[in-house]
Amino acid sequence: MCQLFATPVANQIQGEVKKRVDGFRQLHNRPPKLSVVLVGNDAASQIYTRRKGELATRLGMDHETILFPANAIPTHVREQVQRLNEDPLVDGILIQRPLPKSFREEEVLYWIDPSKDVDAFHPLHAGELVLGIPTLQPCTPSGIMELLAFYKISVQGKLVCVVGRSPIVGKPMATLLLNSDATVIHCHSKTPNMGKLTREAEVVIIAAGKPGLIGSAEIQPGAVVVDVGIHRNSDGKLCGDVRFDEVAPIASAITPVPGGVGPMTLSILMRNTILAAEQRAQL
Ligand code: GUN
Repeated sequence: MCQLFATPVANQIQGEVKKRVDGFRQLHNRPPKLSVVLVGNDAASQIYTRRKGELATRLGMDHETILFPANAIPTHVREQVQRLNEDPLVDGILIQRPLPKSFREEEVLYWIDPSKDVDAFHPLHAGELVLGIPTLQPCTPSGIMELLAFYKISVQGKLVCVVGRSPIVGKPMATLLLNSDATVIHCHSKTPNMGKLTREAEVVIIAAGKPGLIGSAEIQPGAVVVDVGIHRNSDGKLCGDVRFDEVAPIASAITPVPGGVGPMTLSILMRNTILAAEQRAQL
């Protein structure tokens, strides 16, 4: 069994991003800038947004986090996003999820100008992804494709099972795999006999958001297992959607939690930000 650690892949991507950031600064006499909008005080979101800012700074980018209280009026947040859309010095904008219940996700998806939408959640990007048109791609699925490619795991012609159908991970993941010539089985909470389907697959990508959902009974010996879940168990230890100790011995390759998918997401976010800056400079 081989563990698919993110560190070497993330380092490589971040090194490339740093070079592109340096080039952008020389050419345009300013750094690319990422603006993060954080509403409320979700503890995990506070950690994630801080990490995004720290990494942006380390790679030479400008960064700001704009905070709103949990009871913020959605219209006020939308007006702030509109100001960021219009600010020529801002290249990338991100609204951290989850948002408070007063926000309607179907509306928020349209707020960020697509050219600055570094999460690639805008319906325009979702459509382009389905059509196979080169575009900004959602960070986690794109990071998983990079992780597999780095470890020379091809999905072409393989039977790949995706568990979970969120608009952020599961759906774009299945689309990217299809675009890379995989045969995709897509399972979700209403799939009967899910274990029978996951066991068929040579590669299984689990983004169900359910701690310990997948054990050795659900995995074919020799399969590649990618775990997108991140949870804290009763001992305070981080764990995924996969029961690692059970599955690792039978898998040919598996992502650890933490240290697998998570750092990939962050690296692709940085790459999307420099890409958005470069593309906007050509508009
Ligand atoms: N919350 C969980 N994942 C993500 C993500 O990729 N982007 C944003 N903005 N919020 C998230």
